[in-house]
Order: sequence, then structure tokens, then C-alpha cells
Amino acid sequence: MFSVTCVAPVNIALIKYWGKRHEELILPVNDSISMTLSTDELCAKTTVTASESFETNRMWLNGEEVPFEESSRLQRCLNEVHRLAVASGSQKVPPTWKLHIASVNNFPTAAGLASSAAGYACLVYSLSRLYDIPLNEELTTVARQGSGSACRSLYGGFVQWHRGALDDGSDSVARQIAPSDHWPNMHVLILVVNDARKKTASTRGMQQAVKTSQLIKHRVDQVVPDRIIRLREAIASHDFQAFAEITMKDSNQFHAIALDTYPPCVYMNDVSHSIVSFVHDYNERMGSYHAAYTFDAGPNACLYVLAEHVPHLLSAIQKVFPNDLADGGTYLRGLPIPKVQDAES
Ligand code: DP6
Repeated sequence: MFSVTCVAPVNIALIKYWGKRHEELILPVNDSISMTLSTDELCAKTTVTASESFETNRMWLNGEEVPFEESSRLQRCLNEVHRLAVASGSQKVPPTWKLHIASVNNFPTAAGLASSAAGYACLVYSLSRLYDIPLNEELTTVARQGSGSACRSLYGGFVQWHRGALDDGSDSVARQIAPSDHWPNMHVLILVVNDARKKTASTRGMQQAVKTSQLIKHRVDQVVPDRIIRLREAIASHDFQAFAEITMKDSNQFHAIALDTYPPCVYMNDVSHSIVSFVHDYNERMGSYHAAYTFDAGPNACLYVLAEHVPHLLSAIQKVFPNDLADGGTYLRGLPIPKVQDAES
């Protein structure tokens, strides 16, 4: 019997992945850039055990069994890992041995907090350790086939997922732009507006967007390529002003596309919108960008803020959302994550 346990953190996209050019291989219509959070807070933890005595592959997610053999994405990841193991000549664990996989998230699943990114990254990385396969670009193509955004969680720091041009997806890989200690005073504050499961899953939402949104075509051709270049420059030069503006604009454009989808996908709620207004008012009062928001496919806000501005920003948040912050929260990169209750719930 062989067993490995790994942890993989969530990544939060600054330039969003939204739309596929190939559904099964999970090839995106545009490049994206994200920041991977530190491993001690929002993360997935997976234990993979291989044994000669196991009769079938089985998987448990947060203690509940999931139908492993029926999930084409899980199957694809496992098959791809087996292929890499054979190609690399790894003999450690016979590929015929069945697996038992137990994975837990320490944050709400499918609430727009990138749970699938951490989950698949953790699964693929754990399998790579089990079969003794190196972490390299090719492994990111495997995680990508579990969930697109997962390929970015295999690396720490700032990561770019390249759209790629080849039909087989072999050049649609994630690469680190800068390591996790590159911008040490960059912090993320997560405002948990609502931790319920999202109404329209990302996979379905982006399928519908590619089919029906006109704005997505403009974004892919005219907007993202330039934003990728400018965000990379902002990260390289620690330019928070450029970083903040690109990040907020890209979040807004992603949600504009969600609304331009027919029927529309609504991920943000009234509290999310009030957080957007709050951040713009706050930055105006400060005279420059001190905070930047981004929202994934859910109502929860991720705020990017430099360490020196955290205490002031937090006290401003507590003034604007006084009752909502009463129960404090957990910590992310050394920072409190306040809980903001959904105004409607
Ligand atoms: C809004 O990676 O969850 O978080 O590839 O269909 O599994 P699938 O989608 P997923 O989509 C994430 C979308 C996003 C933006 C991002 O992370 O880039």
C-alpha cells in the first residue's frame, strides 16, 4: 500500500478565464492571470492511497462519497497521470492498483471561492507524488482537464495560464510569472457575502456566454491580450495603481459578460455591488488606489490591499458594514476574513 497527502491552495484570478474553445480538453478562449494564496488558509487537502487489495477507485469529498467512475473529468485526470507515469518510466506504484481518494476543503464548495481549482490541483499533484512524476508544465495540462482554473494552483505566486494555439492543448499550460515572495506585502481579504452553492455553475455559465454573448468576442480579441501585458508589467514593477485598475476592470467586464449572456447569469448580489461602491469611494477618499476588488462566479469579494493599508481598510469596512462583521472570521495570509452576511438572507 502507498499513500500520499498534499495540500493545494486556492488561486484568485486577476484576469478571468471565462469561455472554452474545447469543452473536453478544457481549452480556454483567452489567457488568464491569478494569484495563488498561501497554503495555510483556503486550501484543499487530499490523501490518495493505492492498494493491491482495493477493488474499485473510490473518492470522498468532505466526507461524502462521490461517483468517481462516473466523473469524466476525474477519469481523464487519472488516465493522463497514468500516461505520464508510463512515459516517465515510473515503477513506484503499479497503474493497475486501485485508488481511494479523500479530499477536504476548508472553505465552502462551489460558492465562487475557487474550490474546484484547489481540489483538482490537489488531486493531480497528489497523484503525481504517488506515481513519482515531476511537477512541470505538462502536469498543468492534466490539472487543466479537471477544472480549467486548477492548472494555475499548481504554482505559488502569480501565474499565467496560456490559452495556447494547438488543437491537442499541449501548449495550454500554466507558468509562474513571479514567485510567492515577489510581492510580500500584497494581501488578500475575502469578504464572505454568501457561502451557499452558486446558482449557475461556471462550466455552464461560460458555455452559455460563448454561445450567446457578443461582448465576449470583443473581450477575447480586443481587451485581454493588452491587459495581460500590462498586468504582467504591474506585477513585475510592484505597481499597485496599475494592478488595481486592471484587476477591477477585468472583474467588471467578466460580470458584464455574465449579464450579456442569454439568459443572463447573475453572480453578484446587492451586497457585492455595495462592496464595489465602497471600494471606489474609499480609493477616492484616499487619493489613490488602496484596495482593489475582484469577484468570481459568486457574490463573495476578494480585496487586494497592501499590508500597510490593511488596518485602515479593515476599520473602514467595519464602519460601513458594522453588524455584518461582528463574528470576526478566519485568517488569510495573516489577515482576518470578515464575514458579511447576505442582506437578503
Ligand atoms: C470565474 O475553472 O471553475 O473563477 O474549467 O469549467 O471547471 P471549469 O471552470 P472553472 O472556472 C473558473 C472561472 C472563474 C475565473 C477564473 O478563475 O479565472
